[in-house]
Amino acid sequence: MEVVILGGSKQIGRLAADAIEDLVRRKPDAVLGLATGSSPLPVYDELALRHGAGLDFSRASAFALDEYVGLPAGHPESYREVIRREFTNRVNIDPGKVHAPDGAAADIPAACAAYEEAIRGAGGIDLQLLGVGTDGHIGFNEPGSSFASRTRIKSLIEQTRRDNARFFKSLAEVPHHVLTQGLGTIMEARHVILLATGAQKAQAVREFVEGPVAAICPASVLQFHPHATVLLDEAAASALRLADFYRHTYDHKPAWQGL
Ligand code: GLP
Repeated sequence: MEVVILGGSKQIGRLAADAIEDLVRRKPDAVLGLATGSSPLPVYDELALRHGAGLDFSRASAFALDEYVGLPAGHPESYREVIRREFTNRVNIDPGKVHAPDGAAADIPAACAAYEEAIRGAGGIDLQLLGVGTDGHIGFNEPGSSFASRTRIKSLIEQTRRDNARFFKSLAEVPHHVLTQGLGTIMEARHVILLATGAQKAQAVREFVEGPVAAICPASVLQFHPHATVLLDEAAASALRLADFYRHTYDHKPAWQGL
């Protein structure tokens, strides 16, 4: 796991966008894994700017990490809509190649199996963006999620519903159920970039980066990922024991290594 501590979310957005730009230039039909929440927004802003300057996404495809269950199609806070509004509508990805789990499906297990199949059919995810919940979740894999899990329905912990209530008119409107790529699904992405900013993430960051690998902290599974990059601001990095070592390592990294 590579930990990079940066000055703020603008720098984080630029560095993650660099990795995505490199990928899309190297592999124009790249498969991107997209996250919602506030953390990836600077990346999407940066990619929209770069698209304006000529970066081409016409052959790329994208898969959302997760989705609420039970929101009506087109609900502005459904993750399909958020991804469309914040990113894919701002670049030239073919809308037909932007996928999200179907939270309105009558047959949820079939929809989840179809999502896994679609990811496989696209050749797997090349680069997965992730945020992290204050309880250590990635996607919507709450504490206790199996490390082998695939896309499935999950119940949200109250803390996550409260954290996400800011996007809805009231806490009561936040769904209790969600669909999410499993930890096993996320672990198959070829490169994972997790972004975290702000002091409210410091504890979760410390636990998943430096704590034991344990289901109580789902993001800790990334310690087993062969290519995981963690981009943090100073506040999110403030509880790390080895922060100085991560800074030193990044500052002296050979340029050819990239992210
Ligand atoms: C939600 C999403 C996660 C996201 C997390 C953190 O629960 N399902 O994918 O990582 O929120 O969000 P934020 O980046 O807004 O802190």
